[in-house]
Amino acid sequence: MKGVVLAGGLGTRLRPATKVTNKHLLPVYDKPMIFYPIETLVKAGVKDILIVTGPEHGGHFLHLLGSGKEFGAKITYELQEEPAGIADGLRLAERFADNDKLVAILGDNIFETDITEDIKDFEKSTFGAKIFLKEVDNPQRFGVAEMNDSSITKIIEKPTDPKTKYAVTGMYMYDSTVFNVIRNLKPSARGQLEITDVNNHYISDGKMTFRILNDFWSDAGTHESLFKATEFIRGLRLA
Ligand code: G1P
Repeated sequence: MKGVVLAGGLGTRLRPATKVTNKHLLPVYDKPMIFYPIETLVKAGVKDILIVTGPEHGGHFLHLLGSGKEFGAKITYELQEEPAGIADGLRLAERFADNDKLVAILGDNIFETDITEDIKDFEKSTFGAKIFLKEVDNPQRFGVAEMNDSSITKIIEKPTDPKTKYAVTGMYMYDSTVFNVIRNLKPSARGQLEITDVNNHYISDGKMTFRILNDFWSDAGTHESLFKATEFIRGLRLA
């Protein structure tokens, strides 16, 4: 299975820290943010990794991560010309995927979970997608999963009145049909190709599986969540 780290976007919620640099290059305690999702992949045996980022800071990523040798990985790069959404970024991974399955992680997501078994299971599965949920206190900030007893019925992106507290974390496993799904997407009200629309497509096809995470997860895309992620990593380092 191949890995994609999505590291585009404008990082507006972290201004002015993101005025001259990319969000994913900011530190989470003692390392640049993007190191964490890369390490999550490498730890799970995913060593062929594509970084998707915008043209403004592409050179910085190349300088920082290089060939991937220091991570024990092979890292390649694609440029997302416009910040047109997570699904638009993933679209650029089609040639890299070369009909293989993919695990995509948002470059600002910090996972404590070891996904080695999830990767193995997904490699064996015949088709579909898998997402990871985490119970949070502020679901309004995320994609939120509506569920019945055993399955997800729908994901609502940033609901004002969330029906559950299960946030959809920024890690997604897809079979190679994901690129056809993306080709048929329409931009959302905010003009972006939404990953939530991709996931809802798999849900309505009955091809979505999921796991609820019990250990630490946070994004780091706001001042509060960046602080929370930094505190967690600091706790690990000082333990
Ligand atoms: C994105 C996704 C959202 C998900 C979140 C996880 O939101 O659109 O569904 O819950 O990442 O970090 P963003 O933080 O880009 O607004």
